[in-house]
Amino acid sequence: MSRRPVNPSRRIADSGSFPFSSSFHQKSKTSPLLTIVLVLLAVFMLIIYSYSGPHTVVVHERETMIMKDQEISCTGQVEQAIPLLKEAYGNSMRKVLHVGPETCSVVSKLLKEEDTEAWGIEPYEMEDAESSCKLLVRNGIVRVADIKFPLPYTPKSFTHVIVSDALDYLSPTYMNKTLPDLARVSSDGLIIFAGYPGKQRAKVSKLSKFGRPAKLRSKSWWNRYFIQNNLEENNEALNKFDKAAEKISFKPSCQIFHLNS
Ligand SMILES: *[C@@H]1O[C@H](CO)[C@@H](O)[C@H](O)[C@H]1NC(C)=O
Repeated sequence: MSRRPVNPSRRIADSGSFPFSSSFHQKSKTSPLLTIVLVLLAVFMLIIYSYSGPHTVVVHERETMIMKDQEISCTGQVEQAIPLLKEAYGNSMRKVLHVGPETCSVVSKLLKEEDTEAWGIEPYEMEDAESSCKLLVRNGIVRVADIKFPLPYTPKSFTHVIVSDALDYLSPTYMNKTLPDLARVSSDGLIIFAGYPGKQRAKVSKLSKFGRPAKLRSKSWWNRYFIQNNLEENNEALNKFDKAAEKISFKPSCQIFHLNS
């Protein structure tokens, strides 16, 4: 015996006493056709949705991709550290230049801070930049520039320069030129976010973008480098930053150096 799903309209119609029972019978007969039409409509709308809605879908995908990247990239850490930097440097942090990949997101975040102007340098080619990022480029807030060459800014153009995920890709020869240049364009501080050797993986997948694999240097390497190049660490800012980080249990997975300009 085959079971048929109960059709409520049929049940009412079958009970007989309903005046329009014949018309209900008619409707229940057409219902399989109606179902097919509805299914076809649903499929059609799904197709329409998948063609018209890639924006939302892609944005979500990209967000998770960046999130994943942030776990190993220092640029993501810069974004998290903005309130701490504000605490460490106080009101002097007014004009900030960020140098590093995905600078648009750092700059956007900095611009949301009170009394803060922000600019960015994207050292690598921007692949499929979002429209908000393209707008920042068009407005001259973000520039695409090879940091192996002198930065297109006059001395002390910014109060602070923050660099992340960029020096790791420079050979010592270029580092000797670029790091003093970053100090040159800042007046109140140069903050470096660099990967830890061992903790971060050198991003082989991004080799074509960065030109060479990351050279992750140890803390002692950096300290020696700073001394050789007469760059002084800003211990006051470092202490304030560390205290503020401790308060919110922020444990950076990148090395953070605070240098005097
Ligand atoms: C970089 O600068 C330091 C200090 O001036 C120097 O000792 C070192 O040899 C330089 N490295 C290169 C590759 O030019």
